[in-house]
Amino acid sequence: MIILGAIGCGGISQRAHMPSIEHLRDRVAVDAIADVSGENLAAVGAQMDVRPERRFADYRDMLGSGGLDAVLIATPHHLHAEQAIACAEAGVTIVAEKPMAMSLDEADRIVEAVESASVDYTVSHNFLFAPGTQMALDRLDQADFGERVYGRTKSLFCKSHEQLDPETVWRSRASAGGGCISDTAYHEIYTLERMMGSPIRYVEGRLRSNLLSLDVDDLAALLFEHENGAVSTLSTSWGTTTVGPDETNNLAEVHSQDRAIRIDRRGRRVFERGREDDGWTEYEIPSYDGLSNEEISRVGHAGYFAQVFQAMDEGHPLPTTVDDARHNLAIIEGARRASETRSAIDVTKL
Ligand SMILES: NC(=O)c1ccc[n+]([C@@H]2O[C@H](COP(=O)([O-])OP(=O)(O)OC[C@H]3O[C@@H](n4cnc5c(N)ncnc54)[C@H](O)[C@@H]3O)[C@@H](O)[C@H]2O)c1
Repeated sequence: MIILGAIGCGGISQRAHMPSIEHLRDRVAVDAIADVSGENLAAVGAQMDVRPERRFADYRDMLGSGGLDAVLIATPHHLHAEQAIACAEAGVTIVAEKPMAMSLDEADRIVEAVESASVDYTVSHNFLFAPGTQMALDRLDQADFGERVYGRTKSLFCKSHEQLDPETVWRSRASAGGGCISDTAYHEIYTLERMMGSPIRYVEGRLRSNLLSLDVDDLAALLFEHENGAVSTLSTSWGTTTVGPDETNNLAEVHSQDRAIRIDRRGRRVFERGREDDGWTEYEIPSYDGLSNEEISRVGHAGYFAQVFQAMDEGHPLPTTVDDARHNLAIIEGARRASETRSAIDVTKL
């Protein structure tokens, strides 16, 4: 049995992490939790039946109490580096929420801590593990799909003032690592890259804070060139107006000369279309391990955690590594620098 601790008991913990981990109770037990919010600590404590003496206001006390094999980090972005390094020093496997850190300097300090403590680190690239996404990725890897030459992705949201109020919402503050590219479009970057089957090498684009009155980016238009020369684009925003009924606000699409695959809403729907076809054909997506369609929003996490804890149990490499985490952050940093300098940035140099 893997003994797990969790730092951060907020929205994603309650909505997706804990229900997913509950599904894996034969393999994982949540033994200890930490959060500065008494309310969230109590909510997850009750949800997972954590003993009162194993609920901590300070995560350092939880790490110091010992007995943990792995720790899940789900806190605001500016806390990730400090907490991941403390976990490495405590000798536990780190299962981190994205992004790895606020900057590449912080990321490199995490890599150093993980290597010198010889602990494993994995980051939640959860949407790759949704059954719809996995189905699309399998299809893209088949020879008859053809060489992937073009991709596009978009994640356009229309968030309310309440959802973005910087007084109460850390995502809307630069000091906490907010902004639409590192928060929301983080997922589109790894999804697009995996769908294209070739790593992103060059980034061009513009980040803006045009649509909302925040000190973080609320709009990004990016152009990528992949290692194999293929190109793709990403558009993301929190402040666009609503999208029409026939079009999703979130998709990732990849084209060869003859065919295209489209994933809608992060794996909830998948379509394929050939050059001669009249329209898109929708795939039937298998349900995940008995979870219902309503529970689909946590399916990516359920699949991701299932693979993480199975790999831990069996001594195999974890599904997404510290290098994957740093690479995604390098693309985000590349986008920032490309926007500032109006030039193409080679992410392998960052
Ligand atoms: N992979 C995904 O699909 C996905 C989805 C949503 C959020 N996330 C990520 O999960 C993380 C958390 O996001 P969220 O939506 O749950 O945010 P949230 O604000 O709902 O929850 C964050 C929690 O961290 C706690 N916290 C703050 N400071 C702390 C500290 N010093 N020690 C311990 N706990 C502390 C807060 O009290 C809160 O309970 C972020 O990294 C976010 O990007 C990932």
